Amino acid sequence: MTAVEVSGLSHRFGDHVAVDNLDLTVSDGECFGLLGPNGAGKTTTLRVLNTLYPPQSGSVRVFGLDVKADAMAVRRMLGYVPQQLSIEGALSGRENVSWFARLFDVPRRERAARVAEVLDIVDLTDAADRLASTYSGGMVRRLELAQALVNRPALLVLDEPTVGLDPVARDSVWARVQEMQERYGMTVLLTTHYMEEADILCDRVALMHLGQLRAVGTPASLKAERGPDASLEDVFRHYTGSSLEGQEKGGLRDVRGTRRTAQRMG
Ligand SMILES: Nc1ncnc2c1ncn2[C@@H]1O[C@H](COP(=O)(O)OP(=O)(O)OP(=O)(O)O)[C@@H](O)[C@H]1O
Ligand SMILES: [Mg+2]
Repeated sequence: MTAVEVSGLSHRFGDHVAVDNLDLTVSDGECFGLLGPNGAGKTTTLRVLNTLYPPQSGSVRVFGLDVKADAMAVRRMLGYVPQQLSIEGALSGRENVSWFARLFDVPRRERAARVAEVLDIVDLTDAADRLASTYSGGMVRRLELAQALVNRPALLVLDEPTVGLDPVARDSVWARVQEMQERYGMTVLLTTHYMEEADILCDRVALMHLGQLRAVGTPASLKAERGPDASLEDVFRHYTGSSLEGQEKGGLRDVRGTRRTAQRMG
């Protein structure tokens, strides 16, 4: 069974082509990394997959279901951690997760137990009844992961889940993702700018640049093509012609979004 099948997907914002005739396949149970420089089209692709943007041309299927025709069914199979912070600061951690459980129709009788379970997985049990506005950045990210997991998604979509976290917090997010993957046989589709982490975590990665797919394969095979000592960062540079250093994270859009969330969170 194919978890995700993207064929001929294009997405424009006005004249700007953000995703350009993209073909991509993610297998069931795989951890797949979508890599590429800022503005490559990763988030846009994930938003189409996630039914937030209807596909303008081409098609996307999630476990055989079309994102356009079967949007509701697709949404139920998905857990999504967006690039921009999405939690509600005026609610406690537990309330934030409960709200998602309700949204995703987790049966009423199971809700409390399910919420407690995912809070435990992300190690937020002790902080669960504090307002989320008092959480650190790493705790917020783990809370978002708990929200994405509460409906036991077949496909977990993570858009830069570890951005802004210290190395220990990053490891802890990834360890939890791997644990969930093993426990529930979840498929994981993620984006990250940390090449070392993608190398360790992902079964396969795709390199995206200017909305197009430049390369896809296992980290080992892509590195081997570049030479005996090549790193995934070398692969990234080769296919995108850009360096990871000195890049500004996000544009004004992102900054505005983050500020708005920060305000909302007090
Ligand atoms: N809502 C929007 N309106 C106009 N342009 C947009 C919008 N969203 C994205 N874009 C543009 O589409 C392109 C792809 O953006 P996208 O957010 O998909 O990139 P990305 O690969 O996720 O980048 P990053 O690594 O910075 O998150 C960029 O040029 C961006 O400016
Ligand atoms: Mg993005």
